[in-house]
Amino acid sequence: MNDLQHIAIIMDGNRRWAKEKLLPQMVGHQKGADNLREISQLVWENGIKYLTVYAFSTENWKRSPKEVNYIMDLARKFLKTSIKDAAANNMRVRVIGNKIGLAQDIREQITELEKATVDFTGLNLQIALNYGGRDEIIRAAQKLMQQCKDGIIEAAALNEELFEHYLDTSDIPAPELLIRTGGESRVSNYLLWQIAYSEIYITNVFWPDFKEADLREAINFYLARNRRFGGE
Ligand code: FPP
Repeated sequence: MNDLQHIAIIMDGNRRWAKEKLLPQMVGHQKGADNLREISQLVWENGIKYLTVYAFSTENWKRSPKEVNYIMDLARKFLKTSIKDAAANNMRVRVIGNKIGLAQDIREQITELEKATVDFTGLNLQIALNYGGRDEIIRAAQKLMQQCKDGIIEAAALNEELFEHYLDTSDIPAPELLIRTGGESRVSNYLLWQIAYSEIYITNVFWPDFKEADLREAINFYLARNRRFGGE
């Protein structure tokens, strides 16, 4: 059987979900955050050890200040409830992305949550916040260049394995499956390095409506794939 230990999700379609129901757009984001809690639990119940979700991209700052503030407040609430959820479910939570761009209080919440859950051995949940794949690669390259300058590593020693140590996901295996809800077929600057060999599953279902049956369908899609890595 194809081994599936890491699912990455682009949680798209919150606003269209709300629009379809003639509800304010922000309700879509609220339902999206509620659904993330549900899906995290279901992912673990389906035997998957890692879940990485795209909550806010480096491009999302271009949205209206009202929407940005709303999503940041949702992030605050989500991080707060995650302390309790993590303790109840033995879940380890980490945030990937450029923390420098986040408000100070959110950065403090992240530090507290990551510290409180570091020893938990259940689901590993990674929340991508102020995350961009190119930005992550640039930050990794900056750290590397500095270490090179300081004489810690030699340019000739650089290979894929070493480079991975400088990414936000350094000790997390690459996702075997990437799910995108909301029907668009773009990668949207998500986990650019890590999805090099991921299977991609796109569903028209909007994120707030993505439930257990949809998750099972995505997993079954993956399990039915004949995984090949270019060599055969
Ligand atoms: C994409 O839907 C979703 C986002 C930009 C935000 C994702 C946020 C959540 C799921 C809830 C917040 C969770 C945390 C932890 C902060 P969209 O707004 O692009 O929807 P559309 O494609 O219908 O316009």
